[in-house]
Amino acid sequence: MANSSSTAFIGIGVMGEAILTSVLRTVDPQHVRVADGRVEYARERAAAHGVRAAASNTEAVDGAAVVLLAVKPKDIGAVAEEIAPAITPGAVVVSVAAGISTAFLESRLPAGTPVVRVMPNTPATIGAGVSVLSAGTHATPAHLDQISTLLEGTGAVYRVDEPYQDAVTAISGSGPAYVFYLIDALAEAGVLGGLSRDLARDLAVRTVAGAGAMAQQTGEHPVVLRERVSSPAGTTVAALRELDERGVRAAVIAAAETVRTRSIEMGRELDS
Ligand SMILES: NC(=O)c1ccc[n+]([C@@H]2O[C@H](COP(=O)([O-])OP(=O)(O)OC[C@H]3O[C@@H](n4cnc5c(N)ncnc54)[C@H](OP(=O)(O)O)[C@@H]3O)[C@@H](O)[C@H]2O)c1
Repeated sequence: MANSSSTAFIGIGVMGEAILTSVLRTVDPQHVRVADGRVEYARERAAAHGVRAAASNTEAVDGAAVVLLAVKPKDIGAVAEEIAPAITPGAVVVSVAAGISTAFLESRLPAGTPVVRVMPNTPATIGAGVSVLSAGTHATPAHLDQISTLLEGTGAVYRVDEPYQDAVTAISGSGPAYVFYLIDALAEAGVLGGLSRDLARDLAVRTVAGAGAMAQQTGEHPVVLRERVSSPAGTTVAALRELDERGVRAAVIAAAETVRTRSIEMGRELDS
């Protein structure tokens, strides 16, 4: 029988550990079990988080009410087939794999298994992430509520219909990488201007964090916030013209579109 509060994590890599870290803000570690391809590594990470390590994926899912799959998309089909016989009836299977549909998982799991697809992002590690949920065929609003509650320590939780998950992947799933890229470029410009590397990086990080927090807290449109920083004939408006002339806005949109297309392709490749 499923222990109504127990959660199994399969795959303790970058994203599995980010979610585990935050889930443990609200969930008792005694109710969490982890498994990874490398058993020793799973033991080490389990000890670091005060949770239990399972010797195998099937041992981890035995009796769990929620099974969270955080392995790479290429591995998830095999993992779903491996754990299928050990899943407790009524358990919810959650997948964070980019591009993998709930239908793909449902076809490998026992008939009727509720599947929830989630696109998280790495700021989940510090409770400042975004997780976007979609229900599979057998997942009810109550299952989505259950997983929203489980993930509330990771940051904001939203819901979309599954076809929008590829667009979500392009914005919030991959988005932290675009922002880190911007931070690095800004810091480099500071070094070029003669600042020490440490100071340049701190200024860049705090500027991005402060601007993000301001956009979130004021709720103002980014164009309005941008215009307030740009006085007529001033320095900032000249910088913004340079960004436009160099196609930065178009490049950001094109980069996100590439992710969306790749996410769709990955799903198709694995489905075929
Ligand atoms: N990283 C992100 O920013 C991000 C954002 C959104 C969604 N995601 C999704 O999160 C998932 C995990 O990505 P990641 O970046 O965390 O990858 P990762 O760091 O490579 O983690 C995957 C983990 O799964 C383990 N694993 C592989 N095969 C396994 C198996 N058969 N059974 C149990 N564990 C197994 C891996 O162990 P080995 O190293 O030994 O193979 C590794 O520890 C992906 O599906 C990805 O699409 C990631």
